[in-house]
Amino acid sequence: MEKIPDPACSTPDIAAAFAKLKLADAGRHAFLCVGPNCCATVDGLATWEVLKARLGELGVPALRTKAACLRICTGGPWLVVYPDGIWYGGVTPERCERIVREHLAEGRPVAEWVAMEHPLG
Ligand code: FES
Repeated sequence: MEKIPDPACSTPDIAAAFAKLKLADAGRHAFLCVGPNCCATVDGLATWEVLKARLGELGVPALRTKAACLRICTGGPWLVVYPDGIWYGGVTPERCERIVREHLAEGRPVAEWVAMEHPLG
């Protein structure tokens, strides 16, 4: 993709934020819904803490985003991984551990926990 410079988005602060994200190294992006409708927020946040910690500990080059709703609103916490377009429901902290190791780190979705597969693009 051709880079189109936008002066409004080219400040040193923005460049520093992209560098901190390690966006250039990222191969996947995980979005986790932490509730409140698909799961209790306390449960979603427990999974979020595992996702954040394990990605860091394993040095997995993946982005992570805490979402307020992925519009399923039942059976959560929901985790969707792009670019694969893999959706996981009921992502407990224990399940999150395995998803991080096998899918985010090694690129192998945990087939038995995949609720939907829909890559974009
Ligand atoms: S609140 Fe989690 S999907 Fe809507």
